[in-house]
Amino acid sequence: MADAGRQNAEPEFDRYSSSYSDLLADPMRSQFSNDPLYFHRKKVELIDLILRRQGKNPGSMKWLDVGCGQGDLLTLGRGIFAEAAGCDPASTMLPEGSDIALHVQPSLEELPFADQSMDFVTAVCVFHHVHGAARVALAREIQRVLAPGGYFCLIEHNPWNPVTRGIVKRCPVDVDAELLSAPEARTLFSSAGMVPVETRYFLYAPEKLKRLAFIEGWLARLPLGGQYALLCQ
Ligand SMILES: C[S@@+](CC[C@H](N)C(=O)[O-])C[C@H]1O[C@@H](n2cnc3c(N)ncnc32)[C@H](O)[C@@H]1O
Repeated sequence: MADAGRQNAEPEFDRYSSSYSDLLADPMRSQFSNDPLYFHRKKVELIDLILRRQGKNPGSMKWLDVGCGQGDLLTLGRGIFAEAAGCDPASTMLPEGSDIALHVQPSLEELPFADQSMDFVTAVCVFHHVHGAARVALAREIQRVLAPGGYFCLIEHNPWNPVTRGIVKRCPVDVDAELLSAPEARTLFSSAGMVPVETRYFLYAPEKLKRLAFIEGWLARLPLGGQYALLCQ
């Protein structure tokens, strides 16, 4: 259940929450998949893969999804982790009645969790909505809540993919978006004290071309996928 939080101004996504899925609708996006959960499933698969490549078993990890929004990733991914929690500054984005531990952030730059309390933190399509000094402040907060040896995974739109840029340009919730490339993200999280360990680009093959799913692994290092994942320690 979402707990009450202190806010100085209305968080941006409280304006979008009542029609969020309609606002994301885009003909190019639905060419890729008609099922909005498809994109979250791909991310859960990717997260599982990159943690296992580091010799980590998600089943023994406590996971926090920062900027979890409506919690779809948490709902799909919670089963592979020992524990899962989410937070977001926009209280109305958080689903009512969820049995996942969901918390309203007290501010855009503060996470309502103790130091070193999480083994794994994700932020999915959050940082392109965070601007200026707040980016470094949020990155430092993530570093603060990570346990020693813990991992952080950033998943972001890839500004080097022209289809992604087109979708973002048309999307009403992205009016303020400032996309960050993977090299910019590596610099950001290094400056917050983390060590980037792997970058993988994904979303090359549309869902209907299942036979081509294998190319995702082949092209993971090519910086042209629709999105990328950056794993930091
Ligand atoms: C595009 S939505 C993505 C939601 C979710 N991560 C997903 O992939 O479906 C961006 C989310 O980031 C949240 N957000 C914006 N600024 C934030 C900040 N400073 N800290 C945490 N979350 C933030 C918004 O409230 C919104 O729910």
